[in-house]
Amino acid sequence: MTENATSDRTSPPTVFVLFGATGDLARRMVLPAFFQLAQHGLLPPDWRLVGSGRGERSDEDFVDHVRGALEEFGPSPDDGPWDEFATRLRFAGGGFTVEDPGALLDAVSAARDDLGEEAQLVHYLSLPPKAFLDYTRALGEHGLAEGSRVVYEKPYGASPDGFRELDEVVHSVFDEQQVFRIDHFLGKEGTQDLHVLRFANGLFEHVWSREHVAQVQIDVPEDLDVADRADFYDGTGATLDMLVTHLFQVAAEVAMEPPVSFAADDILAARESVLAAFRPLAPEDVVLGQFEGYRDLDGVPDDSTTDTFVAARLFIDSGRWRGVPFLLRTGKRMAAKEQRVSLVLHRPKGPVNDVPANGNVISLSLAGAGAVDIDVMAKRPGPDLAMAPARVSLDLSKIPGGDPLPPYVSLIHDVLTGDRSLFTTSEGLAQTWRALQPVLDDRPEVHPYEPDSWGPAEATALAGEHGWLLGQTE
Ligand code: BG6
Repeated sequence: MTENATSDRTSPPTVFVLFGATGDLARRMVLPAFFQLAQHGLLPPDWRLVGSGRGERSDEDFVDHVRGALEEFGPSPDDGPWDEFATRLRFAGGGFTVEDPGALLDAVSAARDDLGEEAQLVHYLSLPPKAFLDYTRALGEHGLAEGSRVVYEKPYGASPDGFRELDEVVHSVFDEQQVFRIDHFLGKEGTQDLHVLRFANGLFEHVWSREHVAQVQIDVPEDLDVADRADFYDGTGATLDMLVTHLFQVAAEVAMEPPVSFAADDILAARESVLAAFRPLAPEDVVLGQFEGYRDLDGVPDDSTTDTFVAARLFIDSGRWRGVPFLLRTGKRMAAKEQRVSLVLHRPKGPVNDVPANGNVISLSLAGAGAVDIDVMAKRPGPDLAMAPARVSLDLSKIPGGDPLPPYVSLIHDVLTGDRSLFTTSEGLAQTWRALQPVLDDRPEVHPYEPDSWGPAEATALAGEHGWLLGQTE
């Protein structure tokens, strides 16, 4: 894509149906992402966005709504092709159920008349997860499924049974190839760079195995609490919100075997196959925590045992990784906000025998535009042969010609072009639930931890002799 491109010629004219168009997620994430695609010249040459919602609104009202959403959460409408963008927005009210499609069928057919027969149809379910079943059935019932693509937000099922039920209904209406399940951690620039770094550089590919890697850490501490969505969060918790989703998917990205090629099907097959090698988590390898003060938040019951922190030691039974612990950790209200993947290398055997545990680490930041850091031991310049830890850093946003895209923007672009490589699959998700099952059957105790800390002390022991790299004091 060149800088001056005004549209992405790789996708055909598109009718993008946004369910839940006036809801919170659409305002915060989807509409701003769509506008950013317009700014980057990454929308199809011709398109319509049809917002669907329960209320009645005119197209003009909806245009005002979208403008408001951008002013609050997105790039300012005045910084992009707003006037042109606004002419393509439509609204279909009256809801959308199996019994009653509201105004949607007419709106889709009007948009298709505008764009021509070859226009593709993309449905984006920006809805609370409990609505997925009914909207999916309604798409089937009203003939909107055929030949279309459909995007599901996470969580795609919040339990093994919920996942199976949803997946059955989805597959009764759509083929797997039509389905795009979002896990936005897969769309982060840093995560995507794992493929290139590893498979395009001997420096990384040659050490990417248990022979050289002592442990992998995927550490996503967050400093925020959940005050603005405590109701939702209390029914979910860190294990379901982050571990079985984002952290497992990132672990699969790190651990996958080289795909046959970078074609989407090959990448999906490689990711599924390594997820199938995840050993079911032993409950004693999982530490749950809840920050002190969580129960005082509005919307949280006084006796809530929801986990706001989880640390887990995962093993992956593939030849490449057998015996290497993958240490996964995340929590709310922790001491820092970071998103780090670190491969801790074995200490070299040789004349230098006091290399600290964190002295030889390949580390990626998944935050923002991403970064690659290599922690090395270097000679401290001067007359003596003294060692000092040092970091070699590559800020991915500084790569010449780079134009980093936020994950939602990148993933919606992939939906438009039909590239499924960064989406989760039915089989892959079934494997993640299989790996989590023992923890659901025999839930570990939830330990309190102080806000602004690194979580309960019990989590420290999981990391073994190397310790957690983030938050180490020495
Ligand atoms: C979401 C989780 O999926 O990801 C949140 O529900 C979490 O709890 C968020 O904070 C982290 O996303 P980001 O955009 O900060 O990488």
